[in-house]
Amino acid sequence: MPVDLLFIGGALYACGIDGHLKAFLKALKKEDVKRAAVFSTSCISRHALSLIKSSLTEAGIPVAEESFYSKGRPDGRQLQEAEAYTKKLL
Ligand SMILES: Cc1cc2nc3c(=O)[nH]c(=O)nc-3n(C[C@H](O)[C@H](O)[C@H](O)COP(=O)(O)O)c2cc1C
Repeated sequence: MPVDLLFIGGALYACGIDGHLKAFLKALKKEDVKRAAVFSTSCISRHALSLIKSSLTEAGIPVAEESFYSKGRPDGRQLQEAEAYTKKLL
């Protein structure tokens, strides 16, 4: 039974994503997930968003156009924005 909506994300480390996240993405199949939504944190770059999105797209998994990004770990306001983002997509 596929997941209706998978929220998936991670930070950027030395211009790449974490190896565990990479392996998880590689193992995902389009039969597992109907749609995905992507989020990330980092110091500066939003590159993790495109790395995660392209991996999902390559697997044939539809990705929500809108993603969520936080510069650094989310604080109170960004957590509220993250909550609003998830509610919007559900
Ligand atoms: C080893 C390391 C490498 C990082 N490399 C980048 C980077 O290339 N670009 C960037 O914008 N942020 C970089 N960052 C910042 C992290 O993406 C950012 O702190 C993120 O919010 C960390 O999330 P976490 O605390 O959940 O691990 C790096 C952080 C660490 C610790």
